[in-house]
Amino acid sequence: MRPRVVRVDPDRIDPDIIRQASGIIHNRGLVAFPTETVYGLGANALDAKAAAGIFEAKKRPLDDPLIIHIADKKDVHVFCEGVTLDAEKLMDRFWPGPLTLVLKKKDVVPDLVTTGLDTVAIRMPSNPVARELIKVSKVPIAAPSANLFGRPSPTTARHVLDDLNGAIDMILDGGKTEIGVESTVVEVIGGKIIVLRPGGTDMEALRETAGEVELSSDTGLAQNSPGKYPQHYSPRARVMLVDDSPVQTEEVLRTVAEVSAGGKNVGILAKQEHEGSYRMFATKILGPQNDTRTCASRLFHLLREFDDDEVDIIVAEAIGEKGLGLAVMNRLKKAAGPDMDVSYDPERSERNF
Ligand code: TXA
Ligand code: MG
Repeated sequence: MRPRVVRVDPDRIDPDIIRQASGIIHNRGLVAFPTETVYGLGANALDAKAAAGIFEAKKRPLDDPLIIHIADKKDVHVFCEGVTLDAEKLMDRFWPGPLTLVLKKKDVVPDLVTTGLDTVAIRMPSNPVARELIKVSKVPIAAPSANLFGRPSPTTARHVLDDLNGAIDMILDGGKTEIGVESTVVEVIGGKIIVLRPGGTDMEALRETAGEVELSSDTGLAQNSPGKYPQHYSPRARVMLVDDSPVQTEEVLRTVAEVSAGGKNVGILAKQEHEGSYRMFATKILGPQNDTRTCASRLFHLLREFDDDEVDIIVAEAIGEKGLGLAVMNRLKKAAGPDMDVSYDPERSERNF
């Protein structure tokens, strides 16, 4: 069945629509809703049967835990224990907003939601539609990104419908999401603060608030982290990641020419600065490389557009890893997969398509 798609103006939310959505949540149904990062696919986080529906709709493996979303900071103590001073500091500075904390869980959180872990990921979104839905439902809402497992996260209601038509009950359409990449996932257990997934809150801001913050790829502690599935966030097209040194740019052009001569459709995801450099090929502009917010907000949308254009191979230029650039590059590397990331090894650009 096609889900009901209902337009909601975040500045003038119709309480009736939120009541209907929360009715669905209480009937173990699934409601997709906008957050400031990406669209989430929501179910009652305290009801294992309801949450099971999320895994089914997304075709998500049962060992990939969900984030629970709350509307009131104090609720963190209802669902988590051992909330450290560092965690409090981070919540005070970044909530509501694009930061997810991984903390020790309390028993009220069903094991299915955390896939048997003794920790739970929790966040308080700032998007008014998300907050109203949680408030009116009076339960925390478990919500992964509202895409089919492995696909780029949705930044519009249309993307949700493209992936999950027939599998969910309702989509609250609050327009395009602002940040465009998912929240930063941070584990704050014991004395350490470890970023498991870079996202909408950047490392610089985290360090400013909490001092020493590690990135999980630096610590080798990625077990249970969002990075454990190597290929993720992928469009249907194959992604080839390249840096933008002049040598590489020539190399890219040669490879692209070869590939397209072989009858493949090639698209280029370029920085604003290189607009026009690849004139012969279908190019989409991610954004100015120093404006990492713009790059982040456009990334998933453009990857999906390439799919709509039936592109076979996307050649994506790397950007710097400052600010949200770290999250953008993390998603691009995952979309490329281990074999297609040639950003730091031009030797490997001779691949077999
Ligand atoms: O911005 C976001 O975070 C969006 C919106 C909807 O809130 N949600 C989102 O959820 O991106 P999801 O499920 O697509 O990604 C959450 C990631 C998962 O890959 C999961 O592995 C990780 O967070 N995660 C969840 N619980 C965890 C836990 N207890 N320990 C470590 N990682 C966890
Ligand atoms: Mg996801």
